[in-house]
Amino acid sequence: MLQAENLSKFYQMGDNEVRALDGASFTINEGEMVAIMGPSGSGKSTLMSIIGCLDAPTGGKYLLDGVAVENLDESQLAEVRGRKIGFVFQQFNLLARTSALENVMLPLTYAGFAGKEREDRAFKALERVGLGGRTHHAPNELSGGQQQRVAIARALVNEPAILLADEPTGALDSKTGVEIMELFQSLHRENGQTVILVTHDAHVARHTNRIIKLSDGKIVSDEVNANPIKAGAPRVEE
Ligand SMILES: Nc1ncnc2c1ncn2[C@@H]1O[C@H](COP(=O)(O)OP(=O)(O)O)[C@@H](O)[C@H]1O
Ligand SMILES: [Mg+2]
Repeated sequence: MLQAENLSKFYQMGDNEVRALDGASFTINEGEMVAIMGPSGSGKSTLMSIIGCLDAPTGGKYLLDGVAVENLDESQLAEVRGRKIGFVFQQFNLLARTSALENVMLPLTYAGFAGKEREDRAFKALERVGLGGRTHHAPNELSGGQQQRVAIARALVNEPAILLADEPTGALDSKTGVEIMELFQSLHRENGQTVILVTHDAHVARHTNRIIKLSDGKIVSDEVNANPIKAGAPRVEE
């Protein structure tokens, strides 16, 4: 469970104080699928960095499974990130000239796996995202949607409880974006993973069960989406 109380992140830029995040409070329970929306500059990535323990807030409190993240040292933070959290980014962030399998094996290497077990686990994760037949392809031999699937397999491979994705469909065409959202939905449904994703696309957000909207670093709405879009549904424009 994630609990944020009055989180803020201020940057001093010369005489100006930039309030990237300005007093955000919310609770996200295990197994929720949540979209964070808002215009460019509203604090979405800042919030994701704090949720993912990549960055510390300037003020407020953040509890991850009851543990106050501010009390953890660098090595404890790295351990929490490696064990509990999987990250997916807009630009995939895969290693070039490196096979899909090796990209997915990387977090396993950090976690201390080697040999056949490491390879088997990476292969299973690639199979899970529909890429069992592409394990030896490098990123430049894969489509954008396939590269994002490799990135999702890499995020999944250590079986984290929480998947965080910052604009995961932002670099994809809308049809491929929907396919990626359907993949997140099935991971959420079948593995019970908590999925938190950032998007500025309302259609993408409607695949989730809850939509939190940010504006100028503040939460301006936090609503249940009772009827998430199901797999295969046609796209309806705003
Ligand atoms: N490292 C930083 N230094 C100064 N200002 C920053 C920094 N990171 C983000 N900001 C500012 O904080 C605000 C929120 O940024 P961000 O969280 O990236 O927004 P979003 O992801 O919603 O586009 C923006 O005004 C941005 O310019
Ligand atoms: Mg951003």
